[in-house]
Amino acid sequence: MSTTHFIERAVVTGAAGFIGSHVAEALLQRGATVLGVDRRSPRDNALAAENLDGVMGHPGFRLVQGDLVTDELKPWVDGADTVFHLAAIPGVRPSWGDSFGEYLACNVLATQRLMDACLSSGVRRLVLASSSSVYGDAVDRGPLHEEGVTAPLSPYGVTKLAAERLALAYALTPASPTSVVALRYFTVYGPRQRPDMAIGRMLRGILTGEPLRLYGDGRQRRDFTFVTDAVAANLAAATAEVTAEAVNVGGGNSVSVLDVLNLIADITGAAVPVHSDAHQPGDVQVTEADLTKARELLGYEPSVSLNEGIERQWKWLSTRSGERRRGSTAVTA
Ligand code: NAD
Ligand code: UGA
Repeated sequence: MSTTHFIERAVVTGAAGFIGSHVAEALLQRGATVLGVDRRSPRDNALAAENLDGVMGHPGFRLVQGDLVTDELKPWVDGADTVFHLAAIPGVRPSWGDSFGEYLACNVLATQRLMDACLSSGVRRLVLASSSSVYGDAVDRGPLHEEGVTAPLSPYGVTKLAAERLALAYALTPASPTSVVALRYFTVYGPRQRPDMAIGRMLRGILTGEPLRLYGDGRQRRDFTFVTDAVAANLAAATAEVTAEAVNVGGGNSVSVLDVLNLIADITGAAVPVHSDAHQPGDVQVTEADLTKARELLGYEPSVSLNEGIERQWKWLSTRSGERRRGSTAVTA
């Protein structure tokens, strides 16, 4: 193995998604070759095309359109030293009811199949996208640390905890060639954020006049994490000296949705149009990360403040094609 790049051949599952596309980009910038795997392709999906715009055509990047639930996975991971597993069905609130089968397949079964393939191909490290949702609610619990109780309050959170435990169980089998770091991200935002998420919806509301549906009273708090910090955690997790660990990745502050609305008004000079809506089942009141373990194991330190991160997302959104400013009159229900 060359000593120039410790990560030489990477696989990024979910590469056409929000965080996965940023991870792929960062790996290519560091000289790794990247095989992206995703069900979506730029050929048939506009979001995938936009997310992958910075990497398609790069000589070190190749995308395979495939499904981790049904396709044979070993050919994709053969020869890779590191797998970044970001593919999943991600939303908390839509995970109730009939959609759960899809969550179960794409989050749990896909992870089990991928771990089987990684072990049989001798992949050295798998970095898994886990989630703050594995904890449940942090209200009255203080910052959440990795050895604390995991009690997810949404079907999505249950699948993320199952996926994380599965990957760690595979890593802990005797003589497993594959070690695992499960990164528990806390509400990630930034350019290319998924369209269903809060900060993107708020900023788009200013551009289009479409009101944000504000779930509950807005006093719920999130430890919002800028996407480049999540990427830095991925790169550090790929080479950290560990066998099987779950590690928090937070932004460093737990901030209410109302405070984010005020911050956005300061940054953009316009009020986000808002419609009040009911609290949504599965939405926790508070997330707040204890970053001690991330600092110790990964040398992780969040480096982008919420103010700067929102400014960067706003700049990206304002300049991308397709968004039109249609006024920003505040609307309240
Ligand atoms: P995203 O939806 O933008 O990306 C996920 C990608 O996975 C999509 O492109 C999708 O097509 C792909 N995918 C889903 N099922 C697949 C399958 N069976 N086979 C192949 N590809 C499949 O989501 P994101 O926000 O980038 O989240 C990435 C990961 O991080 C997910 O695992 C999510 O649970 C986790 N996570 C995200 C956040 C956040 O705030 N965005 C927070 C915590 C955890
Ligand atoms: C986010 C991701 O979507 C999940 O994939 C991830 O697992 C989770 O973070 C995590 O940290 O583990 P969420 O915190 O719900 O989930 O992120 P947003 O969709 O940005 O919502 C943040 C807050 O804004 C929530 O309280 C939500 O109720 C509220 N919100 C969101 C609204 O009031 N209106 C909206 O239209 C969207």
